[in-house]
Amino acid sequence: MVKFGVNIGNLRLQNPILTASGTFGYGSEFAGFLDLNRLGGFCTKGISIKPRAGNPSPRIVETASGMLNSIGLENCGSEHFLNVVMPKIAGYSCAIIVNLYASSSEDFVELAKILSREPRIDAFEMNLSCPNVKEGGSAFGADPKLIEKLTRAVKSATEKPLIVKLSPNVTDIRETALAAEAGGADAVSLINTLIGTAVNREKRTFILGNKIGGLSGPAIKPVALRMVWQVAQAVKIPVIGIGGIMSIEDVLDFLIVGATAVQLGAVNFVNPSAAGECVDALERYLTERGEDIDSLIGSIR
Ligand SMILES: Cc1cc2nc3c(=O)[nH]c(=O)nc-3n(C[C@H](O)[C@H](O)[C@H](O)COP(=O)(O)O)c2cc1C
Repeated sequence: MVKFGVNIGNLRLQNPILTASGTFGYGSEFAGFLDLNRLGGFCTKGISIKPRAGNPSPRIVETASGMLNSIGLENCGSEHFLNVVMPKIAGYSCAIIVNLYASSSEDFVELAKILSREPRIDAFEMNLSCPNVKEGGSAFGADPKLIEKLTRAVKSATEKPLIVKLSPNVTDIRETALAAEAGGADAVSLINTLIGTAVNREKRTFILGNKIGGLSGPAIKPVALRMVWQVAQAVKIPVIGIGGIMSIEDVLDFLIVGATAVQLGAVNFVNPSAAGECVDALERYLTERGEDIDSLIGSIR
């Protein structure tokens, strides 16, 4: 048996294949398409303290090479999540990573405390692509000093491993990755979506109700791969690669440039079984070569 499991801080994943927040519901919605117990884990949709209705529609538009979304962090809120959603997913044996959404540092800390009551949550992933309402609405993800402070505050509010999810909408993503590491993050995950827009030429309007949205899918893979490679060289904590992963070949590329694990996002809309297929394919790839996962990770020459 080749070694297949990886560590994210003190969280042990049985394999490095995860699904990305916002593309996989709260997990159980996908149970008919793949065996969730086979995954390394899944990241839930971003959860906020109170429920959120999200942005006006249309909220998703297809482009030539990926999708634009402006869901606006619609979610059921922390109490409903703990009382109604958790009982439905607690029985799965893969890691459950809860994605955190808040619009102030205080709310991030409060949310981490509320959700830490649930022992079955294995880790938190903090979404930094959120507008910081108290600081005029600019995203948390662009300010290294704030990221360090916020990471330290959330880390001290919970015993669970904390993954900080970085925004690609910055000049040098290594600076924000290093800030998360300095604040005590157990890992960083990247990338979130790239901000874009789309126009309805007939009506001369924006297509998305929110005018702008986040681009995901195959279009962003080369950008994500470059950023993951750069960050993996800059930090000592594990890096989780995200962005346009559609197949086992994409998974391998991210692991080779230094990702310890990966998340599959937009592909779940096209092929909801993709993550399970990638687990099987990665196991086959390693077994055929008699290679352990550790020798694959960061093997770029
Ligand atoms: C419809 C949709 C909703 C998303 N919601 C969230 C979210 O709630 N929190 C978050 O951190 N990222 C969210 N994301 C970003 C994804 O988790 C992922 O980082 C991004 O889509 C890039 O990966 P991909 O190209 O494989 O989709 C969302 C993406 C999509 C497409």
